[in-house]
Amino acid sequence: MSKTHKVYIGLNSATAIENFNNIFKSVSSLSSISGVIFVIENIIDDPNASVSDLEEVISIDPALTARILRIANSAFYGLSHKISSLTQAITILGFNALRNIIVTSEVFDAFPPEKNIIFDRYLFWKHSIATGCAAKAIGKLLKLENYEEIFIGGLLHDIGKLVLEEFFKNEFRLIVNQVKMQGISLLDAENKILGFNHCDVGKKITSYWNFPQFFVDCSAYHCSGHKSETYSSKVACVKLGNCFAKIFCFGSDGDEQVPVMEPELFDLFDKTGLSQNEFFGLFFYEMSKGNELLESLI
Ligand SMILES: [Fe+2]
Repeated sequence: MSKTHKVYIGLNSATAIENFNNIFKSVSSLSSISGVIFVIENIIDDPNASVSDLEEVISIDPALTARILRIANSAFYGLSHKISSLTQAITILGFNALRNIIVTSEVFDAFPPEKNIIFDRYLFWKHSIATGCAAKAIGKLLKLENYEEIFIGGLLHDIGKLVLEEFFKNEFRLIVNQVKMQGISLLDAENKILGFNHCDVGKKITSYWNFPQFFVDCSAYHCSGHKSETYSSKVACVKLGNCFAKIFCFGSDGDEQVPVMEPELFDLFDKTGLSQNEFFGLFFYEMSKGNELLESLI
């Protein structure tokens, strides 16, 4: 895609759709992610796959291997002893945790936190990690299955914003300016200027990467009023996590407005059995580990 394409303002719907679909053509940095994840997903889904099958694929990439070991040894996983090999990492953490580390690592590489284009990506990733930490804490309290996956859902929920920032620079700059000058939500500004929004883009890019449906749902349905037909409780944890991350100003997602919390989100939170103060204590604790994860990725 040309980096100097024209700025679109007030798109008619046909142009918006064409423009939207064009994001995913000729973007090599994005297609490389789907390749790695696709291979890993195939191995994880294969009931006959062994630790050595996964190790064989990962070890081709020394940088990825080193990063996996760094993340596995970070306080985020809180393991009591040091992991020094891929075999150990896969055996101790399991296939799903490894898949989650690889997804995180690949997405960070595609949108590195040190590269600030229009908004501060370090603060953006901090917000994303905070959302994941809060969502995971809620999922754990509700005894939902695979709460590690809920963390990744939170981490990826705003991925559509990074795609817009990277490939629609001029439009995204206008969007961010409108948010600041007119006090409207980022979602409204995106719809007004582009004719689509970061949730649409998040849904498309996570589907394009062949990510599990839950990750697709988190990026598509985390905004107020958007409903997921599948994984509703887990997606609701991410929606709540996003609100808490914003209320407590952990990082920034480029939009100061806290989404309207739907009544079902309050009901879900009540089921944790914790008061807000008790939950915040837990959230801060999880966030201290989340900060370690962020540092291990940079
Ligand atoms: Fe967010």
